[in-house]
Amino acid sequence: MLRHVIIWKLKDGLADLASVKAGIKEGLEGLVGQVPGLLRIKVYVEGADPSMVMLDSYLASAEALKGYATHPAHVAVANAKVRPYTQARHCLDFEGDSEFSELVWERRSFRKFKADLPAKELVDEVVRAGLLAPTGRNKQSSVVLRIDDPELREEIRAKNAEIMGAPPPGRPADPFYAAPVMLLVIANKANNTGVYDGSLTMGNMMLKAHELGLAACWIHRAKEELESPLGQKILAKAGLEGEWEGVGHLALGYADMPLPEPHPYNAARYITI
Ligand SMILES: Cc1cc2nc3c(=O)[nH]c(=O)nc-3n(C[C@H](O)[C@H](O)[C@H](O)COP(=O)(O)O)c2cc1C
Repeated sequence: MLRHVIIWKLKDGLADLASVKAGIKEGLEGLVGQVPGLLRIKVYVEGADPSMVMLDSYLASAEALKGYATHPAHVAVANAKVRPYTQARHCLDFEGDSEFSELVWERRSFRKFKADLPAKELVDEVVRAGLLAPTGRNKQSSVVLRIDDPELREEIRAKNAEIMGAPPPGRPADPFYAAPVMLLVIANKANNTGVYDGSLTMGNMMLKAHELGLAACWIHRAKEELESPLGQKILAKAGLEGEWEGVGHLALGYADMPLPEPHPYNAARYITI
């Protein structure tokens, strides 16, 4: 994939800066779907310096970039909406995946954590990403519990270890790998998509954690945990009523091990029929 980034400085003294910027943004972003190989295009007009505008785009290849440069729809937008209002242009093209693709490709599970507690704001960001995941019929049935109470954490750790039985070879007895943050995703049983919703919550949280430089690992057995008497205690402490299903825990913190290599992509898992 090719990344094509441009920063423009707008001309001084433009009468209606807001509509000039809106024109540039709408014009360029509207090219997606018209220009072959233009995958994504975003124009930022709200920078701290009001006279600066930035375009960030992804194209399928260097060939696609050449086609984009001379495509009539692009040339029309450039001539009508961009060039008359800009005085300087800096451009950077480079080979590289989108940040999201890199994130998805690089993310791995970590099983060794430092004791350092990540800032609350970081954990909040992780949870926010989880809770913004789609949910069936937008019922928002998944809930994230951050377990800070030391006594409850130990009870969960012990119950999880008990359900797990002997750890897999080479793994410690602590199923949470001594991670300093313990999140628990549960889903309301009143919604038939609860577990799916909660799984997406988990997935988003793992990706966001990686983006923020945090290490994470899905720790299972939340279902059995919630079904045990400990489950009632957790729900009561969280002030939740009704029936809830455990989806997964997220062990979160700073890695105390190098980032493992990405898994190779197994194209055989993508079947067109
Ligand atoms: C549903 C689910 C349950 C998992 N449960 C555990 C677990 O209990 N303990 C653990 O160490 N890893 C657990 N994992 C992490 C997987 O082992 C890990 O995602 C998988 O080996 C792929 O490795 P990666 O995450 O580094 O790409 C779980 C992952 C998923 C999706």
